[in-house]
Amino acid sequence: MIETQRHGTVLTIRIGNPPVNALSEDVRRGIYQAIDAAQSDDGVSAIVIHGAGRMFSAGADITEFGKPLAEPGLAVVIDAIEASAKPVVAAIHGSALGGGLEVALGAHYRVATASAKLGLPEVALGLLPGAGGTQRLPRLVGIPAALDMIVSGSPISGTKALDIGLVDKVVPEASLVEDAIAYAATLDAPRPTGTRAVSFEGGEFERFAEQNARKIKGLDAPQACIEAVRAATSLPLAEGQEKERSLFHTLMGGAQSKALRHAFFAERAAAKIDGLPKDVALRPIEKVGVIGAGTMGGGISMNFLSAGIPVTIVEMVQEALDRGTGLMRKNYEATAAKGRMTSAQVEGALALLTPTLDFNALSECDLIIEAVYENMDVKKEIFARLDGIAKPGAILASNTSYLSVDEIAQATKRPEDVVGLHFFSPANIMKLVEVVRGEKTAPDVLATGMATARKIGKVPVVSGVCFGFIGNRMLDPRLEGAMEMLLEGATPDQIDRVSVAFGMPMGPLQMIDLAGVDIGWHRDPTRIESLRDALNAVGRWGQKAGGGFYDYDEKRRHLPSPVASGIIDDYRAKAGVTPRAISDEEIMVRTMHVMVNEGAKILSEGIAQRSSDVDVVWIYGYGWPRHTGGPMFWAEQVGLAKIVADLERYADRLGEGFSLSPLLAEAARSGRSLDEARAG
Ligand code: 3HC
Repeated sequence: MIETQRHGTVLTIRIGNPPVNALSEDVRRGIYQAIDAAQSDDGVSAIVIHGAGRMFSAGADITEFGKPLAEPGLAVVIDAIEASAKPVVAAIHGSALGGGLEVALGAHYRVATASAKLGLPEVALGLLPGAGGTQRLPRLVGIPAALDMIVSGSPISGTKALDIGLVDKVVPEASLVEDAIAYAATLDAPRPTGTRAVSFEGGEFERFAEQNARKIKGLDAPQACIEAVRAATSLPLAEGQEKERSLFHTLMGGAQSKALRHAFFAERAAAKIDGLPKDVALRPIEKVGVIGAGTMGGGISMNFLSAGIPVTIVEMVQEALDRGTGLMRKNYEATAAKGRMTSAQVEGALALLTPTLDFNALSECDLIIEAVYENMDVKKEIFARLDGIAKPGAILASNTSYLSVDEIAQATKRPEDVVGLHFFSPANIMKLVEVVRGEKTAPDVLATGMATARKIGKVPVVSGVCFGFIGNRMLDPRLEGAMEMLLEGATPDQIDRVSVAFGMPMGPLQMIDLAGVDIGWHRDPTRIESLRDALNAVGRWGQKAGGGFYDYDEKRRHLPSPVASGIIDDYRAKAGVTPRAISDEEIMVRTMHVMVNEGAKILSEGIAQRSSDVDVVWIYGYGWPRHTGGPMFWAEQVGLAKIVADLERYADRLGEGFSLSPLLAEAARSGRSLDEARAG
């Protein structure tokens, strides 16, 4: 775990705890003992701490959280580093995150590679840096830069760290340790950070909290981070650390951190595919084809272009092709205008795009993604055509959001090469990709689909084949519940407010307005068989048409719509419905609990591999509030027995199509988790 070595009078301490050099019990003890021993070793004049393998250290060992802490605690180790009478240099490559960066902050000097990532991401786990980070970082870089790093959790590069005074030197990766040793040999004395005063201007904290109000609203950790950094301005190091520790423990015991830690591991578990050999060889993806230059096809293409992978995009008519590529350029330019891309990067990405009307141009592609509208006959025709031209071994993917990948695959003579790659709108932004495993999908095709999605910065989750896969299948009862309650007497705003108060980015009816009220509409204004038909008949197709359930102002903010409410009243009257008062509790059950029930069915049918995969789908595909851990984790925290009791209480309102998931009922009865109950 810890290896020490002498280079003249410089002692190196190497952290070796693969894969990320987490600061587990043995590592902490090893560093502590090495520092301690060096103090009385007259042959040692200075010390260098560095990491073996890919990085310096990713911080505290998260798997130890929630268990009794084994001594020495990280703060004790770091205090010992800072108290060393011999100067200590941290030599940073790869990542120095969380406790890893705190170790480096305890050191007296820091050298890093230009590409190193230095950060305090604890906030993403619902925590704050609990080993002195909130006290030492502001002493080193000042309040604004420290608040920024600690509250955003985003790492900065070695180069940026040099700019803000977080590191003393940037050195080449190849000679990092060597250079750090040479540097250490020149140092006469320690230079502790802890004794520095923090420079501080009045109003900084208030300004920061105001500027970030929207991002941190309702979240415990960012507030606590701000409070801890504030303590650094008024308290000496030891007392500030005490304050930090107390805030850290409160957060650690809270529901939000538990949920956020679940989300961290859920995301990583989703990458693991049941029943797939670990060493399956991936198919090389060097050229991608996209069929359809609509919003979806364009968004999908942008992901690949941004990752430096050439895309051939095919359309039926020139006008659609021009419109699609024009929109891609516009989106890129908007990103550049926000300073997130340079114009050279925009041009570089677009230079990798080949727009064409020639379907045969796809014959060179390693992965071809169909992104045309949802119609099985059209998709089958496209796949039959693709079968005729795609090169052997090419992966044929469909971006269908509901339809059977198995049926689509049957249109080809190579169903083993067919997979679903379901992106979420806007596809250049949303992180989720459902990788749909057809009955015949080959293991290497599935693994390549997952790896490719990761390569373009997405979070992929495996789904089996069913109508709507994991995400949209759960969305259906949610939207249905909302529509029925609207008919029974609730207002759109009342329904949506319940979801927004819970932390969803929007309610179900706002979501329909965004996606299009007219999705799936028969387009006959004289045929009014539902509330949606009634809205569609008068052109209230949603945001794109200026209004749906709501009206929209020029900033796209939703406003109550007298016209829509007239249509709703009218439809209710014609349907003979007397409106009644509907409670927020009922709205919750009929828009949220019903999703949990559907999620349990998805699990029991084996469509999702594990309940945390369902959570990842909803966090990354629909903006489910991460600090509640996702729908299934949330339900387990509320208590499955309560969820079931609530559903049963409203059973007569849940419609004829509703049935309680036997898995959910069984887990609730036996007090087990859904995964445990499924395993039997
Ligand atoms: N503790 C325990 N395990 C960790 C870990 C940690 N801090 N960080 C990563 N791992 C595990 C992952 O779970 C994964 O395990 P698996 O292979 O069994 O699924 C494995 O290490 C590899 O991780 P990734 O797949 O994430 O590897 P990447 O190369 O993609 O990313 C990374 C590397 C950027 C370091 C990323 O793992 C990461 O962001 N880690 C978390 C960093 C973090 O949050 N640190 C703060 C911890 S809290 C803390 O330090 C408290 C302190 O202030 C007191």
